[in-house]
Order: sequence, then C-alpha cells, then structure tokens
Amino acid sequence: MNTDPLLTVSNFSVVYDVDPPVEAVSDVSFTLNRGEILGLAGESGCGKTSLAYGVQRLLKPPAVIPQGSAIFHDESGTDVDMNALSEEEMRRFRWDKASMVFQGAMSSLNPVTKIGKQLADVFTTHRPGMSRAERTRECGDLLDLVGVGRDRLKSYPHELSGGMRQRVMIAMALALKPQLMIMDEPTTALDVLVQREILQQISELRTQFGFSVVFITHDLPLLLEISDRIAIMLQGEIVELDTAANIYHHAQHEYTRKLLGSFPSLTGERGGFVYGRSDDTVAAGAVTGGATS
Ligand SMILES: Nc1ncnc2c1ncn2[C@@H]1O[C@H](COP(=O)(O)OP(=O)(O)OP(=O)(O)O)[C@@H](O)[C@H]1O
Ligand SMILES: [Mg+2]
Repeated sequence: MNTDPLLTVSNFSVVYDVDPPVEAVSDVSFTLNRGEILGLAGESGCGKTSLAYGVQRLLKPPAVIPQGSAIFHDESGTDVDMNALSEEEMRRFRWDKASMVFQGAMSSLNPVTKIGKQLADVFTTHRPGMSRAERTRECGDLLDLVGVGRDRLKSYPHELSGGMRQRVMIAMALALKPQLMIMDEPTTALDVLVQREILQQISELRTQFGFSVVFITHDLPLLLEISDRIAIMLQGEIVELDTAANIYHHAQHEYTRKLLGSFPSLTGERGGFVYGRSDDTVAAGAVTGGATS
C-alpha cells in the first residue's frame, strides 16, 4: 500500500458551544495516504460529519475547534496547515485541492438552473481564464466521466433520476481534479444497485486520477468493499483504524465487532462477503448477501 501521506489530522476536536457543550469530535488523529480510499463508519451522531466539516473548515458557530491540526501535503511538496488559511485562501483551496460531496447533496442542486450551467459555474469561479468553449467541453467530459452523458448538459435537475443527480454532484467535486475528495453519505438515498455502480465508478476514477477519498457512511458492508482502510468512530473518537481485511477478519474493538454483527449478510449463513485477497490487501470484494443500510 502507498504510504505517502496526503492529509495528516492530529488531535482534532470539535465542540458545539451550546449549553451544555457537545464534544462531537474528541482528539482524533489519523493519516490519509495519497490515492487511498479511507472509509469512516459509525452510528448516527458519532461525529462523522462534524469531523469532515471541521477538517474542511466548513463549520459555523456554535461550533468551535478547540484543538488540533489538519495538514495537507500538497503534490507540489508544500505542506498546508488548513487551520492557518484565511477564509479567502480556504475558499480557493476547497474544490481546487480538496472537494466535498455533502450529506443530502442530491437536493442541493439548484432546481431552476440547467446542470451544465451549474457545472460551468465551478470553472467560471475557479478557472476564470477558461474560454466558454473550453468550459462546455470540460463539463461535457465530466458528465461522460461519471456516466450521466454530455447530452444531459441542458437538463434541469428534476429531469434526472436520483442516481444521476448524485453523479452530477460527484462530477462537480471532480471538476478541478482535486487531490482529496470527502464524500459524506453520498449514496445513502439510492437503491443498493445504483449505490454499487456509483461506488465502482468512484473507485475506477480514483485509479485513473490518483486522488484520495474519505468516504463516510454507516453502511459498513459497502465500506468493506471499496475502502483500503476503515476508521470506526464511536462517540467522537476513532476507536479502530485498520485495513478493510483486518477490520473484517480481525476486528479488535468490541464496538467494531458489534457493528459487523449488526449486518446479517456479513455473519449469517448467506455468507455475504467474497474477498479476493493478495497478501494483506483486499484486491476485490463483493457482497452477495443483499446487505442494505
Ligand atoms: N449545530 C449543532 N449544535 C449542537 N450540536 C450539534 C450540532 N450539529 C451537530 N451536533 C451534535 O454533534 C454530534 C455529532 O453530529 P454529526 O452530525 O457530526 O454526526 P454524524 O456521525 O455525522 O451523524 P449522521 O450519521 O446522523 O450523519 C451529535 O451529537 C449532534 O447532535
Ligand atoms: Mg453526518
């Protein structure tokens, strides 16, 4: 496995300063490697979104980050302390270097604007030198890339299926060829087959472009299939972080075992997982037991 780090998060905490204060993320540390898919799993409310937003500096009051750092090791060789960037620097950094697909993103497309225009806006903002023709070509290429097809450039969001809208959001996150994509429950609202298809595509794009992904979901079977490593979060802390194979076969933490046990397809006689393994890495995996979230 590639162990060239892209993102180092150290002793990161997020507190919602309400009465009484909620410590949503407690002293979390992890490293994300270049080109790696890191799964982040854990029950609702354990702090997954707070961690992702915190790292991307998207939190608003009453949220505060009382401690911790997120260092982005840019491909240029420069280390960027994300906490130290100004608002403006961070706005440019986001999308360009590190993009995000938000929880419930499917509904965040503007209903009255054609998707081609919405995609083009990313380029207008971040690549002001680009000509109109170039933009249109890039947007078409992106829609082809995510399997929506460039003939949909002039469609409105309501003319697309949920899966297609989700792919448009992924296209948007890919637009500026970022080194990091954080995806927060990007496929939860979709049926299992469409979910699989989209995940397969993310995995292929990752191989093609070499970006890293933090993939957040409470659907552990899904993560076991697509992740290189998986972090298990419980009440604001990462209680276990290991390769997908080790999480599946040798879970150390009691909560991880409980989480695995809560998916019948992973443990029942239908057998669930088929791992093609080479050495210690998961080369290919498939759920056959019909696991759903
Ligand atoms: N604006 C807020 N004010 C106060 N508490 C908040 C706020 N936003 C989140 N929290 C609390 O922070 C904790 C973590 O929430 P978070 O949304 O990060 O969880 P999550 O793991 O993403 O959950 P889910 O799987 O449901 O998306 C929860 O206890 C939640 O109630
Ligand atoms: Mg969440």
